[in-house]
This record gives sequence, structure tokens and C-alpha cells, in this order.
Amino acid sequence: MSGVSDKRPIGVGLIGFGTIGTGVAKVLSQNADVIEQRLGAPLRLVRVADLDTESDRGFDLGDIRFDADSEGLVADPQVDIVVELIGGYDVARRLILRSIENGKHVVTANKALLALHGAEIFAKAAESGVDVAFEASVAGGIPILRSLREGLAANHIDALYGILNGTSNYVLSEMESTGEDFEVVLKRAQELGYAEADPTFDVEGVDAAHKLTLLAAMAFGAELTFKQVPTEGIVGLTPDDFEAAQEFGFRIKLLGIAKARREGGSERIEVRVHPTLVPIDSLLARVDGAMNAVAVIGDAVGETLFYGAGAGEMPTASAVVADLMEIAREIGRGGAGRVAPLSYMPEVLAPKPLVPLGELVGSFYLRFTALDCPGVLGHLAGELGEHGIGIRSVLQKGRGDSAASVPVIVFTHPAPESAVRAALERIDELADVTAPTRVLRIEEEL
Ligand code: HSE
Repeated sequence: MSGVSDKRPIGVGLIGFGTIGTGVAKVLSQNADVIEQRLGAPLRLVRVADLDTESDRGFDLGDIRFDADSEGLVADPQVDIVVELIGGYDVARRLILRSIENGKHVVTANKALLALHGAEIFAKAAESGVDVAFEASVAGGIPILRSLREGLAANHIDALYGILNGTSNYVLSEMESTGEDFEVVLKRAQELGYAEADPTFDVEGVDAAHKLTLLAAMAFGAELTFKQVPTEGIVGLTPDDFEAAQEFGFRIKLLGIAKARREGGSERIEVRVHPTLVPIDSLLARVDGAMNAVAVIGDAVGETLFYGAGAGEMPTASAVVADLMEIAREIGRGGAGRVAPLSYMPEVLAPKPLVPLGELVGSFYLRFTALDCPGVLGHLAGELGEHGIGIRSVLQKGRGDSAASVPVIVFTHPAPESAVRAALERIDELADVTAPTRVLRIEEEL
């Protein structure tokens, strides 16, 4: 391709030549024309580092230097921007900090690291006058961070609801449509390459909590780490849950939820990740398979919805390369006009008081496991009633065997979560209740 500009090429060093790293190399090479036409300068992969220098990635690096020397890469004067795609905490953190010290800009997809050590990394980057961009860390190819930071920058964000983990969404969609067991479907998700190296991060909601931490920080200017996010995963959901949810007009989605509560001039925020019953006709209910979606509600814009592939080689590479282009533009402007990485100016980022779960008021799906014997419904209803919790519907598929345990499913009217938890403490002690009750929150406003 003949270049469209005489500007010097921007040098990219890539650490981690796995699935996403290979995607980045492919996009930089295959789309070099459009990248240069949009950027006004070539973006060039100049060096790659990975411990595994032998495996065939199906992409020929040609004469680009490729070895295991990541320390050398972050010190290489040819490298303007370091892309960190190795994941994990320790080595990635060290290499990112070293890159920053060396005056390199950084692009990373490492949500786990940023959700824990983001404050340190962003502060060091600001000190050194370099940028850290991380679009690929949340919802893969969907440009949600850039949208929050720029397209929606004029809004107070009221709420954000995200399907942020493709693996879980795949598992939930498949369990619902096929009636297969959780383990069978999870294995398939792993084979399809959606899952994290440790799939417990996906199914326990941890990966979604990492992503929600970054989204909430950006939406509300909140200093937040993912340890503050109440998190519950999809393990333990059964075909009964999907059937009952459907019968009452809901689907089950693992949602990351962040809301602002503005009262009397002060602001508190709600952040939580948990499986949620959402109305079957809502937009989020229709997001199937490994796809991600994020609904953002701003005070000026109203409701917006972002949808796309949340994982995978090329969609994630698309986000990484867009970050490279944004930083390359800044380099071209001599660093002027940088947009704050977390959307708010660093000096106004502050810890925000969080709304405790007990204060939430909503409807609940309760799956009791109880003996199929006379009086059991009365016991359950009695305890709920004593705690002021109204029952909207009950579903019991009895087997007529008083020694057997059966699911008894109750949909409640809106009630404070603290009352529901107090009732369940008593209910789970009852003699005719044989296993802990599964509680799912219902979001009816979607
Ligand atoms: N394991 C993640 C998912 C990959 O399933 O969404 C992208 O972060």
C-alpha cells in the first residue's frame, strides 16, 4: 500500500501473542489501509513478545522481531505504544508500570488488573504524561467505554445494565433453549473459546464484576475496586428456574447493574452483579449466545443500547486497535487534548457511598426446596407474611411423595431485600425445607 501521509509510523509493541494478540496483528496488517487513511500516519507492529515462540498462530509475522523478551520490548525505543495482552495480575502489572516509566503509552484488555490496581496505574500514567487505554477490557468489540467517555459525556448517568460475560450468557441461553445441564453447556462454551482460562471467573460473576467496576467508575466518577461489588454467579441454576421464569414472562440474565441514587444533593451508587429475571419482551432479554449488551440511561439522552460480540479474536482486536489509533492521534498532537481515561478528571474521582443490598426494594423469585407434604406452603407463606412480603404467584410441581423434596417457586410483590433475607433465615431453618433457598432479583423496569 502506498502511504497517504508522510508522518512517521507509530510503533506498536505487542506482549502476549495468543488469540487476541494474533487478532491484533491481523487487524493491523489486513486493515493497514483504512487505519492509515483515518489516522493520517501508519500504525506499525514493530515487536512481539510471548513466552511461547513456537506455536503456529496462523499468522506470519514476517521480519517483525518476535521473542520472549518482554522487558526488552517495553524499553525498545522503536515502541511508542505497548499492548499488554497476557492477562493476570503480577507480570502484567510490572510490565505496564515499566512501560509507563519508560514513557510508553499502554493499551490493555486486562480488566481484572485494572479493576484492582487501576488507581495506581492511572496515577502513574498521569505522572508520566502517557495514556492507558482499555476499551477491549469491557464487552470486547463494543465501543462502550469510548461511548461513555465521549458520546455520553454530557449526561449524568442514571443507570447502566450490562450483559458483560459472554460465557455466562451463552450458558444461560443454551440451558434455557435445550434444557441441558449447566456443566455440559459450560464445557461447550470453553470449547468455543469464550471462557476465561479459569472459567470460575465467568460463572461466578467475577469477570462481569471486573467489567462493571470499570463501567461504574466511568459512569459516576467513582473510585471503586471490584472487591466492593456484591457478586453472585450463575452456578446452581436449574432447568426449573428457566421454566418458571418463562411461565411468568421472564428470562434469566447475568446482569451487571450500576445505578445512581441522588437524594437531597448527595449521591450514592448501587453496583451489583447477579442473575436477574428480566421481562421477556425487554431488549436485554433478547441478547442470546455469547453476545454482550449494555443499556445506559442518561438524564439528557434517555435510554441507549450497545450490542455486540463481547469476546473473541477479531472483535476484541477491533477494540485494541481503535485504542492504538486514539493514542496515535494524541502522539500526533504532542499529547494535547487527551481525554481522561476514566472519563472524569483524575482530581474529581472520589469514593462514592454505596447503597447496601439490604436497602434495595424489588420483587424476588424464590425457589424453595421443600418436602412435598401437607402444610408446607402454609409455613412458607406464613413466614413471608410475617415479614411483610406479599406473594404474587406460586408454582409447585408436586410429585405426591411426602418424603421427596420438590421446588416451590414464589414470585413476590416488591419488598425490601432486608425483609426477604430475614424471612429466608427463618424459612431455611424449617423442618420441611430441605435445602437453602435460591433467591433471584427481578428487574421489571427494563
Ligand atoms: N470470558 C469473557 C467472556 C471473555 O466470556 O465474556 C471476554 O472478557
